[in-house]
Formats: sequence, structure tokens, C-alpha cells
Amino acid sequence: MHVLHVVGARPNFMKVAPILKALALRARERREANIRQTLVHTGQHYDAKMSDVFFQDLGMPAPDVHLGVGSGSHAQQTARVMLAIEPVLLEKKPDVLLVAGDVNSTIACALVAAKLGIAVAHVEAGLRSRDWTMPEEVNRILTDRLSDLCFTPSRDGDANLLAEGIEKERILFVGNAMIDSLRAALPRAREQGTPNALGLAPQGFALVTLHRPSNVDEPRALSEILAALEELAQMLPVICPLHPRTRARIESDETMRVRFGSGRAGGVQRFRFIEPLGYLDFLALMDSARLVLTDSGGIQEETTALGVPCLTLRDNTERPVTISEGTNQLLGSDPKAIAPAVRKLLAEEKTPRDGSGRERAIRVPERWDGHAAERMADALIAFCAGRASHR
Ligand code: UD1
Repeated sequence: MHVLHVVGARPNFMKVAPILKALALRARERREANIRQTLVHTGQHYDAKMSDVFFQDLGMPAPDVHLGVGSGSHAQQTARVMLAIEPVLLEKKPDVLLVAGDVNSTIACALVAAKLGIAVAHVEAGLRSRDWTMPEEVNRILTDRLSDLCFTPSRDGDANLLAEGIEKERILFVGNAMIDSLRAALPRAREQGTPNALGLAPQGFALVTLHRPSNVDEPRALSEILAALEELAQMLPVICPLHPRTRARIESDETMRVRFGSGRAGGVQRFRFIEPLGYLDFLALMDSARLVLTDSGGIQEETTALGVPCLTLRDNTERPVTISEGTNQLLGSDPKAIAPAVRKLLAEEKTPRDGSGRERAIRVPERWDGHAAERMADALIAFCAGRASHR
């Protein structure tokens, strides 16, 4: 069997790395299975800090093929990936194309493979924000529709897919591969000493990430959020690794550049922008933060697995288990909600989570147990064996 894995953007790497490893392990255990793997990087993310560092931190092999598509409008980026992946699929003839998440590279490759009659497996299937203004929601729904194997991270994913008429034979509740990566890397991340190197006290700072177009693309919305972060910094030191999209928006607006631009750190010592971080450094900061404020999808899940309070600056989430079974709270999109929510959280949490060395009380959703990739590897093997016996 031959599985061709595609990665493209930062949130793909930690989902695909454990599946590559689990299949390689199965290949060693069962020589007769004859498992071949190819790794393709579309190049949607290309900066060393958005891509290369993740390969090192996650122990991923270098890609066999790099498509080098880079940035562009949605149509340009999606079309470039489609044009570049087609000859690769025709040459490599994999039995299964494995894609992850909801980025443009995901839908682009799934669409090409489906038209070539190549089976598609989708990691992180079934998540729904029910917000069609999010490009990711469009990517998810279409990718699931094209997929022969929908690997869901939580049971709400199964329910969403069934409600859309996807046959139940295609749906496999395997758990969360991103949490496999987190669990495997946490001991190494804790040895990095990242908070200390940045002058941050354990459980004494807020970690902030912002990159969603709805929050950062409009100068007015972004400057209101940054002003709210200045207010937050009066309560807790704020550290914010800046996504290139967000940095570009700040730098291109005269008023924001003067007030918040590089080197100025919001004019407040306790409010700092830093470059994007690698996987281990970012994990170390999440693990040590008093709270995380974000508009990312994956970080809502990672904070739940770590037991760290997460405030999400969005109106909706495609990851509701992080609220019902985790540490996540939706704040909505009005930055005025940030300060009161943080005040409430700090008042409720009189004792920082584990400052005293106590065990954290972490509720972790079902099958976020570090073994999701093994389940996917076994399902892929069974799927290919089943198809071979029908030929
Ligand atoms: C993409 C995903 C989003 C995901 C995010 C994680 C889509 C539709 N969006 O958004 O779901 O949450 O990745 O980061 O696929 N840039 C660089 N260097 C890079 C990559 C990007 O400077 O290595 C800059 C470019 O100016 C680019 C902009 O960031 O135009 C946006 O990159 P893009 O890949 O289009 O979308 P993201 O905002 O990263």
C-alpha cells in the first residue's frame, strides 16, 4: 500500500507527523504489509519559522516533494496547489491521499485526487463552525464530501457528517492526532526553559495569538483588539508571537505601526510581540501560561489537553468539545469582552493551576489519548487491504 501525505500550512504538521510515525512503525512490525509513504509539502507556508522548525521539532522526515506554491488569493493558492499536485499524483499513483485540517492545500489536493479516482482520507473530519464566511468551513465541508475515510477527532464530528448524508461506513471516530503530537513532545517542551528565557514567570502571563482574517484584516477591528490587549497587560504581562499575516497588517497601517509596530511592543513593557515560535517553544509557553487568548482552532484543543484556560476571540467554534469538556470559552468578536473575562477568570482562579506542584484537574475529551494516529494507521491498512481483495 502507498499513502501520500500532504502538508501545507502550520497547523497540518502536528496532525500528520504522528500518522507518518505510526505507519512506519506498522511497516516495521508487519513486514508483509509492504507499506510505502510519500510526504508532499505544498509550500503554502514557507518561512522557516512557519514550516522548517516544525519538521525539526516534530521529528518529521524532509518532504519527498515540495510544490513551492507560496501565498496568494484563495483562488490563486488553491489553483496553484491543484496544478502542482496533479502530476505528482499521476506519477506516484498512491492508493490513498491523506490530507489534514481545513487549509487551502487540503481541499485543493482532495479535489484533484477525487477526480483521478484516488481514495482520500481526511484527518480532522466533521468539524463545523456553521459559519460560511470562514474559508476553512468551506474547505472542511467540501473535503469531507470528497473523502472515502473521514477520521473524526470527536463525536460531534460523526453527528455532523451523518446529518450531511455521509455514509456511516466512511466515518471513523479515531480521536485527535494533534494531541498525539502534544503528548509526545510535552516532556521535551518542558525542558526547553522557554518562559524563563523570555523573562516570563510560570503561570504569570497571558499568551496571545491572532491571525484570523475577521480579526486582523480590518485595521479598525485589529486596532481595537490591540488596544484591549494593552488593557489586559495592566493585569498580566502579555506575550504575542505574531503571525506574518498580522504583522503585515500592523506594519501597513500608519497609526498601528506607530503605536504597536515592531520594537514598540504596544508601548508597554508588559505587552510584547515576538516572532512566530517553533512547536516546542510554543507548547512550552502554552503549558506555562496563566491563560491563553486566541482566535486559532488548534490552540483551543491544545489548551484543553493541557488544562490551561483559553479565551477564544470568535463568535463560533468548530470545536465545541473544548467548551463542553475542556477549558475553552467563546468571548465573541467584541474586544471589549476581553478585560471582564480575564478579570473574572483571575478572580475565580485564586490559586494558579499548578503553581504549588499539585496535579491539574484536566478533563480530556474521549480518545484524545495519544493513540489517534495508531487508529488511523490501522484503519488505512484495513482500507487498502479491503480494496486489494476487491480487485
Ligand atoms: C492559513 C489557513 C488557516 C490557518 C493558518 C495557520 C487557509 C485558508 N488558511 O491562514 O486556516 O489557521 O494558515 O497559520 O488555508 N505568510 C508569510 N510566510 C509564510 C506564510 C504566510 O509571510 O510562511 C504571509 C503572507 O503574507 C500570506 C499571509 O501570511 O499572504 C497569509 O498566509 P496564508 O497561507 O494565505 O493564510 P494564513 O493566514 O496563514
